[in-house]
Amino acid sequence: SQNRKYVIAVLPGDGIGLEVMPPALRCLEAAAKRFGFKFEFREYPWASCIYYQEHGVMMPSNWKELLKACDAIYFGAVGDPASVPDHISLWGSLLLFRREFDQFINLRPCRLIPGVPSPLANRQNHTIDFVTVRENTEGEYSSIGGRIFEGTSRETVIQNTVFTRQGVDRVLRYAFELARSRPKKKLTSATKSNGISITMPYWDERVEEMAKEYPDVKVEKYHIDILCAHFVQRPHTFDVVVGSNLFGDILSDLGPACTGTIGIAPSANLNPVSSKDDSAKEWMPSLFEPVHGSAPDIAGKGIANPIGMIWAGQMMLEHLGEKDAATAVIKAIESVLARGGTNLLTPDMQGKGTTQSLGVAIEQEIINVV
Ligand code: NAI
Ligand code: MG
Repeated sequence: SQNRKYVIAVLPGDGIGLEVMPPALRCLEAAAKRFGFKFEFREYPWASCIYYQEHGVMMPSNWKELLKACDAIYFGAVGDPASVPDHISLWGSLLLFRREFDQFINLRPCRLIPGVPSPLANRQNHTIDFVTVRENTEGEYSSIGGRIFEGTSRETVIQNTVFTRQGVDRVLRYAFELARSRPKKKLTSATKSNGISITMPYWDERVEEMAKEYPDVKVEKYHIDILCAHFVQRPHTFDVVVGSNLFGDILSDLGPACTGTIGIAPSANLNPVSSKDDSAKEWMPSLFEPVHGSAPDIAGKGIANPIGMIWAGQMMLEHLGEKDAATAVIKAIESVLARGGTNLLTPDMQGKGTTQSLGVAIEQEIINVV
């Protein structure tokens, strides 16, 4: 339609989040300009440890209202473990968004892109191309449990895993549909039903049940430990990999690491059923972020790889329905990486480049790429 405009909540967060956000916003602006739509970026300093240190909370009390006024959330990274414990910063921001906006799908594409050195031996370009689908609201990351008899010899700590039929089925359905839409039509389920003998056999049961509805999708399952080994030894055999909150989290760092660096890996936290046009239901925006965290070890040096942030923006464009712009951004990333060069690639890709110069190269490419 004419006059397409998207209001985006921009939350750079901490550490390298503050460094990769500006070049990524310029890339999105370039795509918008080229494809004839507009962005309104509403940048907020909260959901950061910087804000926490000043206010004693991670976010203002009206955070939900502010975010719900937007079409999507574009998030950098949160965390400053030297000043704020990670469970406070993460539970006070990102994990709240995922839960309160019911972003039950965490989608992480994982591709070996020509130009990025892979740590795996004998890899040819484009031989890794899969997506992990992680359950994002329940499972092992539950707030049910507690401590009792603290500080005594009876000290006891319990945290319960929660699998609901609704929660398991909706992530499986999303993964099966995704597998059906891809050429390989293959789904791999991560389990551990040999050791975790109550919840994981339930997960397997639901996979089997749903597989009946998707006879065209080839289904396999592996225990998480050997699945990790397969990710390293034969990553080219995967297509869609679905896992619980914990297993999905682990796999979605391991996958991108096998393709060279987590610095390029994007992630979408989706509520695929909420729509702004549906006034009957509460609107819940989705969130787009790089896989990586705030990287305190390299923060402030200007050498963070901006591609994870930019690629997350590409997923946001796709989600907003701007397919041509999304295609241009991914092509721009690919062509800049293929051109490569020590002076352009950031140190995590064995180069000497900077956040700034790599960001500008991709921005230019978005404007020019055919
Ligand atoms: P991390 O992802 O921040 O860093 C892990 C390693 O990868 C570091 O050596 C870092 O330098 C490198 N790295 C990460 N992103 C990079 C990039 N774009 N370019 C180049 N190198 C990059 O994970 P870590 O160290 O476990 O956590 C640091 C902080 O970030 C903690 O406070 C943690 O809680 C938080 N965190 C936040 C996440 C989020 O906001 N979604 C996700 C993961 C961690
Ligand atoms: Mg993780």
